[in-house]
Amino acid sequence: MNQDELKAQTGQESVKYIKSGMTVGLGTGSTVRYMVDELGKQVQAGKLTNITGVTTSRRTAKQAQDLGITIKDIDDIDHIDLCIDGADEVSDDFQGIKGGGGALLWEKIVANASNQIIWIVDESKLVHKLGKFPLPVEVVPFGAQLVFNRFERKGYKPSWRMDGDQKFLTDEKNYIIDLHLGEIDHPEKLADELIHMVGVVETGLFLNRVNDVIVGTQNGPKILH
Ligand code: 5RP
Repeated sequence: MNQDELKAQTGQESVKYIKSGMTVGLGTGSTVRYMVDELGKQVQAGKLTNITGVTTSRRTAKQAQDLGITIKDIDDIDHIDLCIDGADEVSDDFQGIKGGGGALLWEKIVANASNQIIWIVDESKLVHKLGKFPLPVEVVPFGAQLVFNRFERKGYKPSWRMDGDQKFLTDEKNYIIDLHLGEIDHPEKLADELIHMVGVVETGLFLNRVNDVIVGTQNGPKILH
């Protein structure tokens, strides 16, 4: 199986954890696309009823609505039963980097409102230590170059997330700076430092958040607790 088939496998498998009546956080990314497709099929077939989705990006909202899944604004619900989202890296101790698709801020807000979180990844995302995948940091446009320069001085090897020849804009109209750190020895310390820098809105470090990880492998989906 190629990587795309592994993503499809884990995305489809994760729908088994959704029960009728649930409010479900719908993540963002190519793996989540498979999950939302499968959820849409089951809703259309009447196998899952009374499902409410809360999405982590406009992209996912459009896909889900096109499939007939009821979507609510996060401010109109009081909790989310289960959030299913992708990840860019998952370490041995269940810490993660997310935001490869640029949706980290809404993803963190949805995760924060969720009683249970499942990440769906293909096996290439499992790492011993975080940091090989560039760490996305969302920053407000005003003064963003100053934040970028500060990252440079700290040796964090920043690069602008681009969309063609323009800076990538998140759903909140912010920029993303990717930090090429190589290895992150102390993720909690780094997350704390970054979030306290003026101009930083959120980081792609998702620490102590996930309950289960469904991994797409050549031998079928594997669940890690
Ligand atoms: C988007 C994310 C994605 O979940 C993450 O980038 C994984 O994406 P994919 O399933 O396409 O590999 O965090 O902001």
